[in-house]
Amino acid sequence: MKLIIMGPPGAGKGTQAAYIKKYYNIPHISTGDMFREAIKEETDLGLEAKSYIEKGALVPDSVTIGLVEERLSKSDCKDGFLLDGFPRTIPQAKALDEILHNLKIKLDAVINISVPDSVLVDRIVGRRVCKNCGAGYHIHNQKPRQDGVCDVCGGPLIQRKDDTEETVVNRLKVYSSQTKPLLEYYDKAKLVKTVNGIGDIQEIFKNIQNLLGGNE
Ligand code: AP5
Ligand code: MG
Repeated sequence: MKLIIMGPPGAGKGTQAAYIKKYYNIPHISTGDMFREAIKEETDLGLEAKSYIEKGALVPDSVTIGLVEERLSKSDCKDGFLLDGFPRTIPQAKALDEILHNLKIKLDAVINISVPDSVLVDRIVGRRVCKNCGAGYHIHNQKPRQDGVCDVCGGPLIQRKDDTEETVVNRLKVYSSQTKPLLEYYDKAKLVKTVNGIGDIQEIFKNIQNLLGGNE
């Protein structure tokens, strides 16, 4: 499966990606996670990305495209991958077309998680992530077994720097102006499969499996 998962900030891309990755046994390539890792490691990439991310703005295409090209060229992507958070602009989508063409890879589907804006702010402000392994939680919707402790690895749960109410407003604006138009772009290629992102997390995953034709 060669997949893209799309949706506004807080739609549940990362949450569903964890299930999709496991079920289809494909690498989960999240540009947001890659940037956050680089920020943690204080690499040049991290230093550049940090100022954009903390404002809720997009990291420049020139930086992001090269990063994804390098990742998709690795051998573990030959039989499939799940792109999360990329592409996010029309120039990124066009660059991705070229990268995939050069690698002789065809996309199977673009999963679009649909969630109204009214729900997104609460999801983002209430999100907690494991500092060590990145697993995602929510203070009400997806609680860990023990408060503040990751179920998977026992690491401490923290809040992402860009998960403040102020930054979220900007992230939602950026999504609608720069990323949402991609749905039309991929619709023309008949790749978009839209799933309702409201409801039980496992049910949403089942619906995604059905849309991909993989739930026997
Ligand atoms: P990125 O990390 O991609 O963030 P995002 O797109 O804003 O999306 P999120 O990770 O916030 O949301 P999600 O959809 O993954 O939701 P989640 O599953 O966690 O990007 C961050 C930044 O990096 C960007 O702003 C930009 O600066 C930069 N960047 C990244 N890629 C870039 C690119 N290509 N070009 C330029 N810049 C780039 O769920 C959210 C919460 O909701 C969780 O708490 C979860 O527990 C809860 N939840 C999930 N599902 C449900 C459900 N069904 N019911 C109730 N609660 C739920
Ligand atoms: Mg995410």
